[in-house]
Amino acid sequence: MEKIGILTSGGDAPGMNAVIRAVVRTTIGMGHEVYGIKNGYEGLMDGEINKLVESSVADIIQRGGTILGTSRSDKFMTEEGLRRALSMIEVFGITKLIVAGGDGTLKGAQKLADRGVDVIGIPLTIDNDMAHTDYTIGFFTAVDTVTEAISKIRDTTESHGRAHVVEVMGRNCGDIALYSGLASGAETIIIPEREPDFDDIARRAIMSKKRGKRHHIIIMAEGAGDSHELAEKFSELTEIETKVTVLGYLQRGGSPNIVDRMTGSKMGHDAVEFILDHFGGYAVGIKNSKVKIFDIDEALAADKEFRDDLIEVIKSISI
Ligand code: F6P
Repeated sequence: MEKIGILTSGGDAPGMNAVIRAVVRTTIGMGHEVYGIKNGYEGLMDGEINKLVESSVADIIQRGGTILGTSRSDKFMTEEGLRRALSMIEVFGITKLIVAGGDGTLKGAQKLADRGVDVIGIPLTIDNDMAHTDYTIGFFTAVDTVTEAISKIRDTTESHGRAHVVEVMGRNCGDIALYSGLASGAETIIIPEREPDFDDIARRAIMSKKRGKRHHIIIMAEGAGDSHELAEKFSELTEIETKVTVLGYLQRGGSPNIVDRMTGSKMGHDAVEFILDHFGGYAVGIKNSKVKIFDIDEALAADKEFRDDLIEVIKSISI
């Protein structure tokens, strides 16, 4: 009988609980034991590890956050931290490990795999900044949240005849801005992956104002600069009064949408089935709507494909 450990690590994301539920129920259903590790790699180093049963994950598929708790751990990335984690894995007799989180979580898993742990990573972050997968769990719920917020901001922006800069999360990735920009009909998006052409942005805003348009929504990814400086610059160039909203942590919370519940359930289930039969380090991803398992080194070395086609769509229809 195998003993599977499961932890969630890094920034929480809607869908983490769906993954935990799928991992627990699949493992028990296949006749093995499953252990929940509290607060990510911190809890692994501290031995905060408890056996889970079917009912431990009842009534959580619809809940945001993570019932296991999470953390960002610099200590784990040190030799001392890694040694403590390895000794806890041995003490508790964990034979297979499943880690759910973003890029940092996967890098942690790679360190464990290099030291002989059988481990598989599930991509869970609102940022959608992991190259080996078409999308990460949590991303589409965050985009839903941002899109809904922008609809409200658009009402007041339109009433007052203003412009509005909405700052969204994403670390160094512009995908939350890009996807919510397209979904909300925003006029401009500013993202770290592409240099903005301010003269062109201002020219388009002035032209549409002349045509009678009463709002201009700019979505700025947090990795692309300072939203207050951007608002000042835009208002100087266009003479349009410009307000700022920083959406912040509300983007990380809330009930996961159908995509994140389904993907989380499928990935959690497939991760268990796969790791039970394999040795080494792996990462789960989605490619062309199918769950695919990658070697962990290959997943971390992949280059992220950028959706220039979506920028073109925004430019041609948000006029
Ligand atoms: O990785 C998810 C994320 O929400 C990023 O978008 C953001 O930059 C970061 O986490 C914030 O991290 P913390 O919760 O540590 O402040």
